[in-house]
Amino acid sequence: MFKYSVSILGTGFIGLCSAACFAQKDIKVLASTHNQKKAEMINNYKSPFYEEGLAEILLEIKEQKADLLKCLTDPVQAVLDTDIIMITQGTPMRPDKSINLGYIESTAREIGEAIKISNKYHLVVVRSTVVPGTTRNMVGKIISAVSGKEPGKDFGLCMQPEFLAEGRSIEDTLRPDRIIIGEFDERSGEMLQELYEYFYGDHLENCPIKRMNLESAELVKYGNNCLLATKISYANEFANLAELVPNVDVVQVMEGVGLDYRINHRFLGAGVGFGGACFHKDVNAITKWSRSKGYTSKILEAVLERNDLRAIRIVDITEGLIGKLEGKKITLLGLSFKPGTDDMREAPSIRVINELLRRNVTDIVGYDPKAKESAEEAIGDKIKYAKSIEDALKDSECALLITDWDEFKQLTPNDFKKYMKNPNLVDGRRIYNYDEFNKALSFRAMGRINLE
Ligand code: UDX
Repeated sequence: MFKYSVSILGTGFIGLCSAACFAQKDIKVLASTHNQKKAEMINNYKSPFYEEGLAEILLEIKEQKADLLKCLTDPVQAVLDTDIIMITQGTPMRPDKSINLGYIESTAREIGEAIKISNKYHLVVVRSTVVPGTTRNMVGKIISAVSGKEPGKDFGLCMQPEFLAEGRSIEDTLRPDRIIIGEFDERSGEMLQELYEYFYGDHLENCPIKRMNLESAELVKYGNNCLLATKISYANEFANLAELVPNVDVVQVMEGVGLDYRINHRFLGAGVGFGGACFHKDVNAITKWSRSKGYTSKILEAVLERNDLRAIRIVDITEGLIGKLEGKKITLLGLSFKPGTDDMREAPSIRVINELLRRNVTDIVGYDPKAKESAEEAIGDKIKYAKSIEDALKDSECALLITDWDEFKQLTPNDFKKYMKNPNLVDGRRIYNYDEFNKALSFRAMGRINLE
């Protein structure tokens, strides 16, 4: 028997991982998507995308608690049959880089239609990343207008930002370091806190629940992602500074900096910069939003600008190593935006390829252990796609390490010597031992130059 029932409107990473984890802990879940095929897959307990650990949980649900997870293609029905409604729709970037709230808007309408005909109190929780004011002024107002009912009286309203990183979504869902609850009123916040007290149990001893107003919670999410992106751009700024001094290595510098307990070493890894759906989207969304309010966030705009320059920097370093690039075969090791995923969104590899093409390099070959298909979709025939590391390095005149997959970490200088026409290597993720590789190969690493 279940105590709570939750509908999850949107079946991406956040939606499906939450749905699976909730059902596993005896919460009744009705997921909803307009995509018939996706719904069928979920109803067969199969994930439409790969995420570490998700398939196993879905299988466990299928075998032990099949009736606790269903996916509908009718959000109104999903809302009517549950007490807590979670909006987990995507908030993609528009062509002008501002936030696209279109899915949130249409979902709010659907919720409004359900609440109009429902005779019980529902709590609506926005879990998507949205700019401040969206939950109250868009979601709350639309539901109210469509249903004719009032937030805080007839239905509850919360905003709970999500901090899942791809490849860690299940772990992050099961063991978060904090839960942020933005609440329209106390009753709404209480109801959501109760759900999490049940769901997390003892884990809450190490995981504070922080309650605040809706807009503060919305801004917490941006505060997090912008700070992480800033740390990376900051480390990259120091990579540039380190390169001004012979034999200074940004890796050692950032290790030293990160030992300060107030800072910590995470997200201080210098290299070709950050990619992925979230950092670009969120830093862009908040800077555009802030400009629309009359304030220019120079720091955050610089974070994006410096990040884009990393692709130019690695190509400059390559040119410094092997001279004019035109007519030479160049290999990219890694195409996905980070290891452990085939996600190509905002991947640094795309920016590096565009920069190489701008410098008339036409013979580019890429290899990625997981992202061949998605890279083909994202990059098309601008490059060739190798099936193995050996294939990628064959006859190549320079390899650029772009994604820090374990498979690449195992390569030795001899592997490069064995396969390449000329063994030149540029480490864009600082995964190779500098002294060993510098001795054995014609080698460069972002954030350190040779004493010459
Ligand atoms: C991120 C946030 O971590 C997560 O909390 C948020 O909810 C969504 O955005 P994600 O994009 O999945 O998650 O990946 P993350 O592991 O944060 O890495 C993002 C990018 O930064 C990758 O391209 C990675 O290679 C790069 N990175 C990370 C660095 O360049 N240096 C670092 O030190 C760390």
